[in-house]
Amino acid sequence: MAAFFPKIVDKYVQIGGILSTVGAVIGIAVFAYATSPSVLKTGYQPVQPVPYSHKLHAGNMGMDCYYCHYTVYKAAYAAIPPTQVCMNCHAKVKTDSPLLEKVRESYATGQPVQWVRVHKLADYVYFNHSAHINSGVSCVSCHGRVDQMLEVRQVKPLNMFFCLECHRNPAPNLRPVQYVTKLDWTPPNGEDPAVIGRRIIAEKHISPPVNCSGCHR
Ligand code: HEC
Ligand code: HEC
Ligand code: HEC
Ligand code: HEC
Ligand code: HEC
Repeated sequence: MAAFFPKIVDKYVQIGGILSTVGAVIGIAVFAYATSPSVLKTGYQPVQPVPYSHKLHAGNMGMDCYYCHYTVYKAAYAAIPPTQVCMNCHAKVKTDSPLLEKVRESYATGQPVQWVRVHKLADYVYFNHSAHINSGVSCVSCHGRVDQMLEVRQVKPLNMFFCLECHRNPAPNLRPVQYVTKLDWTPPNGEDPAVIGRRIIAEKHISPPVNCSGCHR
């Protein structure tokens, strides 16, 4: 905690300073910096303690993302499932598998599996899953085809430019909420996604923030 707070304060001071200096030049400089390759983490794929496969569970077996990431409709944070969720099946399935050793150990000791975080925004950016999911933005827009990944990796830049590109024109990226976890969903009868999106925008009065304080609070 001690190291955590001063870092955020630093960033706010930094951002605050930029906000008070009005001018397009600075805007462009910030934009260039925030989208420069050094802050693009696309491709990041850490090694996980258990070789859990989304391709097997979410892809082949067709498990809904919501079964494990069950907070996405109501919270900012997308929960990583506790070991109990795995044990719903693995108390009976593949009980001798060496690949599940750490899961059984976690269940026995009550110590969570130490999953390594893949996606991580800087602390000075506010992000909320439920605001996106309930508006009809699918996981696929920001995480790609997770249901085809053996190991999760970051496939979208998740930088300021990426966020703003959609916030300025969300229509093509919206779908009825019941399909947000169906990553391969396409509009029925070849309908234009933007037409569906504009309908959803009108119904729900959707207007994503494009001002600085919308994401830097
Ligand atoms: C059986 C449980 C389960 C299901 C179903 C599941 N996940 Fe996961 N998910 C996990 C676990 C465990 C992790 C942490 C380990 C890892 O990153 O692979 C994880 C990690 C992730 C991450 C990376 C989180 C980070 O650290 O940044 C994303 C993104 C993700 N899941 C998306 C999805 C999507 C999209 C679906 C539906 C297509 C889905 N998951 C279905 C269990 C599940
Ligand atoms: C709905 C049931 C279900 C849930 C929940 C579930 N799994 Fe599985 N998992 C399976 C099945 C079935 C297989 C075996 C598929 C096969 O026959 O190869 C499997 C296979 C595995 C394997 C490969 C084992 C091997 O020896 O090949 C690992 C690792 C694994 N699961 C990890 C997890 C983790 C971690 C979680 C919790 C985040 C989890 N599973 C949740 C059903 C489940
Ligand atoms: C609009 C973009 C966007 C959408 C849509 C989205 N995510 Fe995320 N996701 C992110 C970002 C950004 C992070 C990193 C958040 C942070 O560091 O504060 C993240 C992080 C995660 C994590 C790690 C835990 C966390 O909350 O930091 C999981 C798990 C996850 N997402 C799963 C999902 C699932 C499942 C869906 C669909 C139901 C989904 N995400 C939809 C952008 C998105
Ligand atoms: C694919 C489209 C899309 C992407 C990408 C996207 N957003 Fe959004 N965002 C939306 C929509 C739609 C809303 C809902 C606006 C509404 O309800 O009026 C939203 C709302 C928000 C809100 C307001 C939520 C609230 O609780 O007030 C914030 C903050 C936000 N987004 C941050 C981000 C950040 C940060 C990123 C990039 C990491 C991002 N968004 C990427 C579409 C997107
Ligand atoms: C839709 C959300 C969103 C809006 C609106 C937004 N930003 Fe950002 N901003 C981000 C994200 C995401 C990052 C990158 C965070 C990361 O690298 O993890 C970022 C990064 C930054 C950084 C840090 C650059 C760096 O790499 O250290 C500054 C400074 C910044 N933004 C200023 C602004 C200013 C000024 C505005 C208004 C003109 C603004 N932002 C509007 C989402 C947003």
